[in-house]
Amino acid sequence: MSILALRGITKSYAGNSILKGVRLEAGDGEFIALVGPSGCGKSTLLRIVAGLDHADNGEIVIGGRNVSSLAAADRNIAMVFQSYALYPHLTAGQNIAVPLAMRRLTAVQRFPFIGNFLPGQRRIRADIQRQVREMASSLKIDHLLDRKPGQMSGGQRQRVALARAMVRRPSVFLMDEPLSNLDANLRVHARGEIVELHRRAGVPTLYVTHDQSEALSMADRVAVMIGGTLLQLAPPQDIYEDPSHIEVARFLGQPRINVLETRLDASGLVRFGALTLAAESAPPAETPVLIGIRPEFVRLSARPDGILSARIERTEFLGSEVIIHARLDAIGETIVARMTPAEAGGLSVGMPVSVEIEPDRAMLFAPAGERLPAKTVAVASVPEKAYG
Ligand SMILES: Nc1ncnc2c1ncn2[C@@H]1O[C@H](COP(=O)(O)OP(=O)(O)OP(=O)(O)O)[C@@H](O)[C@H]1O
Ligand SMILES: [Mg+2]
Repeated sequence: MSILALRGITKSYAGNSILKGVRLEAGDGEFIALVGPSGCGKSTLLRIVAGLDHADNGEIVIGGRNVSSLAAADRNIAMVFQSYALYPHLTAGQNIAVPLAMRRLTAVQRFPFIGNFLPGQRRIRADIQRQVREMASSLKIDHLLDRKPGQMSGGQRQRVALARAMVRRPSVFLMDEPLSNLDANLRVHARGEIVELHRRAGVPTLYVTHDQSEALSMADRVAVMIGGTLLQLAPPQDIYEDPSHIEVARFLGQPRINVLETRLDASGLVRFGALTLAAESAPPAETPVLIGIRPEFVRLSARPDGILSARIERTEFLGSEVIIHARLDAIGETIVARMTPAEAGGLSVGMPVSVEIEPDRAMLFAPAGERLPAKTVAVASVPEKAYG
């Protein structure tokens, strides 16, 4: 059953349509990463779900209840932003206690002096302290509880902010680039922590990032939004290997997928190098199409085979892999290959090479971007003389 459902959310600012009918369902305990280029509307969507902004149209349903017209405070949603505004004059422990105190103590009870003498409040305070300690120990920040934000590192402050957001057991958790202030090493570490925390708490989470490796490594499903439209929502491996749209394919994957323009021939086939592809529901012959091939499925070799030749323009050595850019002789476009250092050994700038594409890994897209189901129907064999 879906715990969070967004139905047809639209939003415009000053006549500019920012969200164009976003629809999404998150199951119980599901972690969804929302990715997309800067300005595509990710933060706008999160703010609308949190109730900090209002949609022009559409519904937000949490646990079967339409909360679209409820105030932010009544939605039981926790949100962590990139800038995790902790109260600087309060210790970590006091910061974490704030949401609990706001919920369980009246305004008068929260007064430090008068409050102490009011009935029942001692028990509530002890209870709050217990919850703060439990949360702190699950995030391994017990030792920080007495420190103020100025006495903590960025990563530690981030953990305190997470603890503060989690402590009141929200029904939905929203995070907007919560790790972008951390350095690279700390980020990878913090990723693991958030995933672990999420696994234990089991609260459905919508996690915004523009970092695709964060999305692919952390989420149960990844949602790719481009220009205010959610193009695809699928598990990481599916969305990477089987993108439904060229923009999804372009957004996920580093280096980016190779996209080459070509055309269906008179019999509805596409030939590219040694491969012949057939679109399953053949569009009219002579239609322009885009061919997409991920760099890991491109092999360059120093032995020209006379089928698809190119010349190496640039190589990037990255330790465990080498990225090679080569210009195709026939069409003048660049194709990028990702190879191991062993495979790339002996290849250097300026060298003529043959380009081989792994069969069944080339994808076809219509010019507007939709995926065209296709399959490889033939792989040409290399003429003997080419190896002479
Ligand atoms: N209050 C506002 N008034 C006018 N335009 C706004 C407002 N908030 C956002 N926008 C515009 O809406 C678009 C989407 O903004 P949003 O902040 O949702 O993008 P984003 O996907 O979160 O980008 P980033 O990855 O850079 O954070 C942008 O073009 C932005 O300028
Ligand atoms: Mg944003």
